[in-house]
Amino acid sequence: MAWFTSKNEYARLGVPANSGRKWNSSQRSRAAQLAVAVSVVLNLYFILSQWWTWPAPLDNYQELLDVPPASKENAIVTTLYTDSFAPAVATLGHSLRKTNTSASLIVLYLPDRISEEALCIATSSGFVAQQVSRIPPPRNGKGVHRHFLDQYTKLTLWTLDKIGIKSLVYLDADTLVRKNMDELFLSPWDFAAVPDIYLDSRGFTLGFNAGVMFVRPSSEVFQNMVDQISTAHYRSEDAEQSFLNHYYAAEAVRLPLAYNGNLAIKKRSPELWQGMLPELRLIHYTMVKPFLGQDYAKVSVKDLDKHVEKMTKKRGGYYKREVQWWGEEWKETRETYQKELSLCNVF
Ligand SMILES: *[C@@H]1O[C@H](CO)[C@@H](O)[C@H](O)[C@H]1NC(C)=O
Repeated sequence: MAWFTSKNEYARLGVPANSGRKWNSSQRSRAAQLAVAVSVVLNLYFILSQWWTWPAPLDNYQELLDVPPASKENAIVTTLYTDSFAPAVATLGHSLRKTNTSASLIVLYLPDRISEEALCIATSSGFVAQQVSRIPPPRNGKGVHRHFLDQYTKLTLWTLDKIGIKSLVYLDADTLVRKNMDELFLSPWDFAAVPDIYLDSRGFTLGFNAGVMFVRPSSEVFQNMVDQISTAHYRSEDAEQSFLNHYYAAEAVRLPLAYNGNLAIKKRSPELWQGMLPELRLIHYTMVKPFLGQDYAKVSVKDLDKHVEKMTKKRGGYYKREVQWWGEEWKETRETYQKELSLCNVF
């Protein structure tokens, strides 16, 4: 243990005893007063700083810009292609209304797919239903993941300029909003989305996830997109997400991850997930869908509470807390919109 510093060697590095000037008693008392004063100030600062924290700039709008958002031209839009997502849309609507969003809420749905009952559930918490036509995948859906066969219908978002929408935030129905995100309506871009995350070797990517998007609708852009769906070269499996990534490529503004709290982040980097939570605008239930049965099967409203409880154990219980959040929000939705839901004949 020769490298271990001995007590003697250590002492030699220190200040020799009695090397300083001695203080007289008045100097000592002044120093003591100063020390007490500093200590009081530091303690006060510490105590006050526990109470007072500045709100984050995005939570603290003061309309410093001279164009406040005009709410009738702003919409938050989701889609309903199958009955099994109806309770998810209702819960999303409730979570949005809790944030006091100033935007109108629109759910696009396929009339020949969606039952009256499902539409009733989906619109119970404030989403206004708007019929759309299905946009079929190119090449009869060859190579497209079977859960994404209706997803090209999402491009219809770009036609909403026809009903007076100037800006919209699109949210997949498997999202749950936790914080107001109306600030997006002030963004100057035509298109923005959040980088995607995968559990495989791709990891954190620059390509974006199409589950949350800021879109300035334009029927002209829509026509241009539809004209190219079948001729553009891209991986067909991920359907509209892959197409949109190729369409916008580097021109898509990348939003912070907090705008699309993809559960894959938690798996990939638990520390990042933990750090993001205070700023998280929404959770995107990619890895586990609390409201769906096996293979996207519909879960009836009566059984939903029990089902959510079961889903907390999915993937080894890794997403227990996030699944519980959804379950709590659903319970609140059910209670808050009891009257509306009672008209849907689901209880
Ligand atoms: C929404 O508005 C209500 C009523 O003005 C208010 O009590 C509530 O705190 C607001 N919620 C948020 C998240 O700002």
